[in-house]
Amino acid sequence: MSALLPPPAKHWWKQPLDRVEGTWIVIALTWCLIMFFMMPYWHVYGKQNLSNEAYRTTPEVYTKKTQEMVDKYTVRKETAQEIPVVHPPAGSDVYLIARLWQWWPILELEAGKTYRLHIMSMDWLHGFSLQPENINIEVHPGYEHLLKVTPTNAGTYSIICNEFCGINHHTMASKLYVTSPK
Ligand code: CUA
Repeated sequence: MSALLPPPAKHWWKQPLDRVEGTWIVIALTWCLIMFFMMPYWHVYGKQNLSNEAYRTTPEVYTKKTQEMVDKYTVRKETAQEIPVVHPPAGSDVYLIARLWQWWPILELEAGKTYRLHIMSMDWLHGFSLQPENINIEVHPGYEHLLKVTPTNAGTYSIICNEFCGINHHTMASKLYVTSPK
């Protein structure tokens, strides 16, 4: 029978189900249910999901806090854009700005110490993606995102934007330095 022709019997769905077809329906349905229940399961037991908090704020308020940290703890400048590299005290609140098309400043953290990392977008949606750790946060404008981070290994990590944010989205990349404990 071809799908191009109308079904010969009017009540075609009353025909008995082929065994193979039935088996596939059962397999597909079972898999759907497994995938469905994996979502809540993974949220609780999966280790890659960060529970983050978000608070409403404005770019002005947030910029002020970031600027204060930068003024106090800048250790050097990097790249052609002279982006400050900031080494704040271990365990403190650290601030990162996402904007077209830059992460500002560059943070330098110490391994084994816990920080409160704040991230906010100054304009529109960006995506914070820390590689190769694969930590991903959607950074919405109007909200200060807050997450607790404890870098475990010293090294240089990459921060890339993984939400398309315009013509220079691909250049919106930065670094995160993690230094060995002294
Ligand atoms: Cu910011 Cu893409």
